Amino acid sequence: MEPAAIGSIRASRRVCVAGNLCIDLVIRNVPALPGWGQEVAGRGQSLVPAGQAANLARALARLGTPVTVIGAVGEDDFGRMIRDDLTAHGVDVSGVVSLPGATPVTVGVVRPDGERAFISEFGCAAAVDGALLNRIWEATGGSDVLCLVGQFNLPGLPPGAAQAFLARARAGGAVTIVDTGWDPAGWPPEMTAAIREELAAADIALPNRDEAAAMTGEDGGVEAAAALLADGPSLVVVKLGEKGSLARYGDQAAFADPYPVEAADAVGAGDVFDGAMLHALRSGLPVGEALTFGNAAASLYVERARDRFPTSAEILARIASRPGSGRGQ
Ligand SMILES: Nc1ncnc2c1ncn2[C@@H]1O[C@H](COP(=O)(O)OP(=O)(O)OP(=O)(O)O)[C@@H](O)[C@H]1O
Ligand SMILES: [Mg+2]
Repeated sequence: MEPAAIGSIRASRRVCVAGNLCIDLVIRNVPALPGWGQEVAGRGQSLVPAGQAANLARALARLGTPVTVIGAVGEDDFGRMIRDDLTAHGVDVSGVVSLPGATPVTVGVVRPDGERAFISEFGCAAAVDGALLNRIWEATGGSDVLCLVGQFNLPGLPPGAAQAFLARARAGGAVTIVDTGWDPAGWPPEMTAAIREELAAADIALPNRDEAAAMTGEDGGVEAAAALLADGPSLVVVKLGEKGSLARYGDQAAFADPYPVEAADAVGAGDVFDGAMLHALRSGLPVGEALTFGNAAASLYVERARDRFPTSAEILARIASRPGSGRGQ
């Protein structure tokens, strides 16, 4: 039987996405990283509003799911750029506050083969804590679905505070969904334990394979999903990169094949997958078909260099190009 959280998502009016917002400044085709005092030339650049919260919100809005973002930007041009971009995508920004200090920036350097290196400066995001998120949550009237994403890019929100924020929203009737992202400190044991404790306040967990493996010591597949299920969520979905995605709930497992594509840029694919999969559940699709919808959406996103967030029609066309791709249940 499907978990009750899925029924609540189907009946939901609005999704709230709390998490990190930043500007990504990316330089491509960089042959090697420079040493201190040196300069290296790349070819191709982009400066785009990003962060897991922005990516997830834009993916949902593009598909027609009403979405409000809870987060912070700085009182600067980058902050205005993020706000304007979210608004242009149809995202409600009434929960995006401007804080003193700089908007977070990530500088990405991409090798010709696609491998990347990142440098991040969290700026005003350091001031985003549980109290601020609670205040905004209440000021915006809450929501019946709360996603908390990218918490490792919010240094003021340790797992205990994230757990309290989720628990409070859940006590108010919201379904809670967590995608922590990767721990840049490499998942030391005390962080891993705290995150697994946090999952007690999550109805749905959405790690990728490496995160699921790091959290559980399993290989990141169905065994890892089963271990995370025991921490509290009633549905665990694991994103498997170019291998597709899988889900565990109750004693059930579902698996969905990927849509192989030439990847132009895979950063943010997980957020687009999350958004499309949630949109599909909200539209009434069963878990296995929602995984397929997420895989198809993410494949469109990774193969595109611009105008990347797919519409429902584009996703359905991709699924129709290979009938019967959903498996499991
Ligand atoms: N090279 C690829 N080809 C086809 N589909 C892909 C590829 N990479 C990712 N995907 C799709 O995107 C989904 C999410 O990707 P991934 O597992 O890399 O998540 P992630 O690591 O959380 O991503 P990110 O952190 O970059 O947002 C996968 O489940 C898959 O459906
Ligand atoms: Mg991810």
